[in-house]
Amino acid sequence: MKMRAAVLEKFGQPLVVQDIDIAKPKAGEVLVKVHACGVCHTDLYTASGADPSGYCPCVLGHEGAGVVQEVGEGVTLVKPGDHVVTLFSPECGECIHCRSGKTNICLAIREQQGQGYLPDGTPRLSRDGEPMRHFMGTSTFAEYTVMPEIALANIDKSAPLDQACLLACGATTGLAAAIWKAEVEQGSTVAVFGAGMVGLGAVVGAKLRGAERIMIIDPSEQRRELAMQFGATDALPGGDDAVQQVLDMTGGFGADYTFEATGIVSVMGQAVEAARMGWGLCTVLGVAGKGEKLEIIPRFLITGRKVQGGSFGGARGRTHVQELVDMSVRGELDLSGFVSHRITLDDVNKGFELMEAQDGIRSVIEFA
Ligand SMILES: NC(=O)c1ccc[n+]([C@@H]2O[C@H](COP(=O)([O-])OP(=O)(O)OC[C@H]3O[C@@H](n4cnc5c(N)ncnc54)[C@H](O)[C@@H]3O)[C@@H](O)[C@H]2O)c1
Ligand SMILES: [Zn+2]
Ligand SMILES: [Zn+2]
Repeated sequence: MKMRAAVLEKFGQPLVVQDIDIAKPKAGEVLVKVHACGVCHTDLYTASGADPSGYCPCVLGHEGAGVVQEVGEGVTLVKPGDHVVTLFSPECGECIHCRSGKTNICLAIREQQGQGYLPDGTPRLSRDGEPMRHFMGTSTFAEYTVMPEIALANIDKSAPLDQACLLACGATTGLAAAIWKAEVEQGSTVAVFGAGMVGLGAVVGAKLRGAERIMIIDPSEQRRELAMQFGATDALPGGDDAVQQVLDMTGGFGADYTFEATGIVSVMGQAVEAARMGWGLCTVLGVAGKGEKLEIIPRFLITGRKVQGGSFGGARGRTHVQELVDMSVRGELDLSGFVSHRITLDDVNKGFELMEAQDGIRSVIEFA
């Protein structure tokens, strides 16, 4: 079948929207009609050529949501007509990691996915008979995608897909980190470094868990104001004395929970040091550059601070994304504020430009 897709032809060049072919789903796979897709930093990171594991040509996009069109042999988790969120981080429920309940790093399809293939080692995308690789197991900058059933969260049909798509990556990362990874306690004090999509998700998650004080640390005044709208109680400009700013706000002790959502290693260090002596828990969410190192003075650990991290905020894709969608349907979680621009697939490069200019939080591609 022919479809429109945004192809990364060459690193550092704009994506080229064009017709390519997508094959039918094989055993265990699902054909999804994509209705909406967020434009995330990871897409831009790969498009720029900075990602050492990147390859091209390929169809980018991973923050997708859509409707199941067709299922391959043996598929039991979804059926045609179901609404789904695409997961770059699958949940097979059967591998040693999934069964442990301790991690979201599913081992089922990692190797093939990382190389751009479906679990059987082949792609479903092609152009003029030439195979083309998938990206992050999702490739949702396209009208359709074929994905393994274990990488789709089956969600409530009443949730708007143009908001649910944000739970495929950015929003879930911060939300899940605060709710399930750190399990922020009621009445606690929280410091979030970075007020992008990920940090704002952590702010909202901490608020949902009943945190009493939520400090947002971000040099951008606009972003700090936004965080206050999302539930932060105090805004700090950060910078070299960011740790001192948090200590000053907490009687010299530091915050019960800190979250780093910038990808800057020096800020990760600040998030560790701003965590409270005795029990402060620092959760690192940002993705640092290749080879960069985080330095921690051991005294901060001996005196009781803990450091953890989590891809996708530690969210178990099928379980937690479904739960977050349910929360939004019940009116407990408002995702609408994260969508700042709505664009068409043809404008995908505009989405990158807006992100580079830090204009808004998320551009969402809407498909006709
Ligand atoms: N763990 C995951 O699975 C996962 C998923 C998505 C994104 N990420 C990563 O999370 C990070 C944040 O993503 P995002 O989409 O929110 O990015 P973003 O660029 O939208 O937001 C980053 C924010 O950090 C702020 N900032 C810059 N310097 C700062 C400083 N010194 N102190 C405090 N704040 C500072 C910026 O003003 C900006 O508001 C990135 O590194 C991204 O790659 C991780
Ligand atoms: Zn698994
Ligand atoms: Zn992403």
